[in-house]
Amino acid sequence: MTETLLYDIIIVGSGLAGLRAAISAASKNKNLKIAVISKVQVMRSHSVSAEGGTAAVLYENEGDNLESHIYDTIKGSDFLADQDVAELLVKKIPYEIIQLDRWGMPWSRKENGRIDQRKFGGYSFPRATYAQDKVGFYEMQTLYDTCLKYENITFFNEWFCTSILHNSNTFQGFTCIEIKNGHFVNMVAPSGIICTGGAGRIYSFSTYAYSSTPDGLDMAYRAGLALKDMEFVQFHPTGIIPSGILITEGARGEGGYLINSKGERFMKNYAKDKLELASRDVVSRAMITEIQAGRGFKHVSGVDCLKLDLTHLGDEKIKGKLAGIREIGIKFSGVDVINEPIEVRPVCHYMMGGIHSNVDGATELNGLWVAGEAACNSLHGANRLGANSTSECLVWGAITGELAANYSIKYKSNSINVDNQQISTEEKRIFDRIFRGKGDVNPYEIRKELTDTMDENAYVYRTESSLVEGLKKIRQLKSLYWKHVDDQVKEYNTNFLNVMELDSMLRVAEVVLLGALNRRESRGAHSRIDYKERDDNNFLKHTLAYYNDDGEPKMNWHPVTFTRYAPAERRY
Ligand code: FUM
Repeated sequence: MTETLLYDIIIVGSGLAGLRAAISAASKNKNLKIAVISKVQVMRSHSVSAEGGTAAVLYENEGDNLESHIYDTIKGSDFLADQDVAELLVKKIPYEIIQLDRWGMPWSRKENGRIDQRKFGGYSFPRATYAQDKVGFYEMQTLYDTCLKYENITFFNEWFCTSILHNSNTFQGFTCIEIKNGHFVNMVAPSGIICTGGAGRIYSFSTYAYSSTPDGLDMAYRAGLALKDMEFVQFHPTGIIPSGILITEGARGEGGYLINSKGERFMKNYAKDKLELASRDVVSRAMITEIQAGRGFKHVSGVDCLKLDLTHLGDEKIKGKLAGIREIGIKFSGVDVINEPIEVRPVCHYMMGGIHSNVDGATELNGLWVAGEAACNSLHGANRLGANSTSECLVWGAITGELAANYSIKYKSNSINVDNQQISTEEKRIFDRIFRGKGDVNPYEIRKELTDTMDENAYVYRTESSLVEGLKKIRQLKSLYWKHVDDQVKEYNTNFLNVMELDSMLRVAEVVLLGALNRRESRGAHSRIDYKERDDNNFLKHTLAYYNDDGEPKMNWHPVTFTRYAPAERRY
């Protein structure tokens, strides 16, 4: 008999969104029992690696204003953002910054003691609120520390969620594996929040933690919820080679610039006002264009790249504000950025798409919300501005935590009747078909081929033929007989987890490619060489993908919400 644990709210994922949601729910009512499930230890969540900042308007008296942040976000999104969502972010995030300050966040300060902000790409004002260049780490530590003050939050570290329990339209809980002993457990609650982050490990060259696979997205997809706008993948201009580790945009915000092999600051030819601080899609395209025109450098590994020059910033500024990326450069590239430019190239960094939700993070299942990068409430449209992601996690962590708490106060867990058939079907899927699978193809080779295919076929520039080829390859990999786990122990079986992750990667990669193939236009981060223009007549709409047991995902469209700005040409 499978063990069942009853909670009032179950949060899956322990990054910024998950922790903020837990605090929000816990502070609503101290009698609510809140579970936070994470496949890693809390402080190993990918959010700790956020570097450059959290965008917010803090100083209206110094010239910034909320409307400007709203407009920058919508323009950055290439007019695919839902405008009510952008407005909600901008209005709520200043309070989150101050709230974090009160909880002990060590924000970097100006000389007058006020919280400092730096420039970031695509903004009209220095708006990235920062703590040196380790923003995510400090935010996580502040939130985790705050969570520990609440006796009604319980952490389930190193538990892997495998499916959503639901009756046709209402959430009931999750099935999980407790990694340390391999036990299969049902977690039941009236409300849940999925905060499992992005899925950028479907690419090989990626800034993401190795744990950033699409398990959370995939369990929603398999439960019948739509994945939205998955074709929009952000490539951050400055990943180091070969690791893909991020050099923060804060480095350019502090005055760093990009150079080509002729020593030119080439961004003047692509974004004459904003230069390196144009939005990321614009900078990444410019870099690939320079490389294709033969003005790139060759990294020792043979990979084409450009260089980021920070040498003019000086020792004091780099050690004071960019110490983290200096250390990364020394350890992972053998380059001290104080003394020489560092080789970089665009790297998979963020997924604008995710689990379809409304403005409040509510999904198509009653009682289930999503927050953070796993969600697609359409804040970022076709391209996210840097520093708007940690903002998103904080704002929708707080919103969904409160909404889930209200819902659970109304509906109690002991009145939930879970369908045993659903549980045994899930047990069969993961244990009979994956753990005891008899496949003869090495799953690690499949995983490598999958991520290389995404690098090759769905990178900064895309074409019909590259996407068709990519899709064909992913479907071929999917059809191979790779489901088997060599290690048959129950305890701490990372081999088993890796194969389950691969299962989700194959399905979600297919959705990314199919969405990209269907979108015959160029918008934001989705840039098609064969359809170079943005096509508002035919594609000013969101993509939805629904799981189909019998074959191809079912694709659909969803309208964009306009409240204030008509689409216009973007110039930086
Ligand atoms: O460059 C960076 O520090 C990344 C920030 C972000 O993606 O929001």
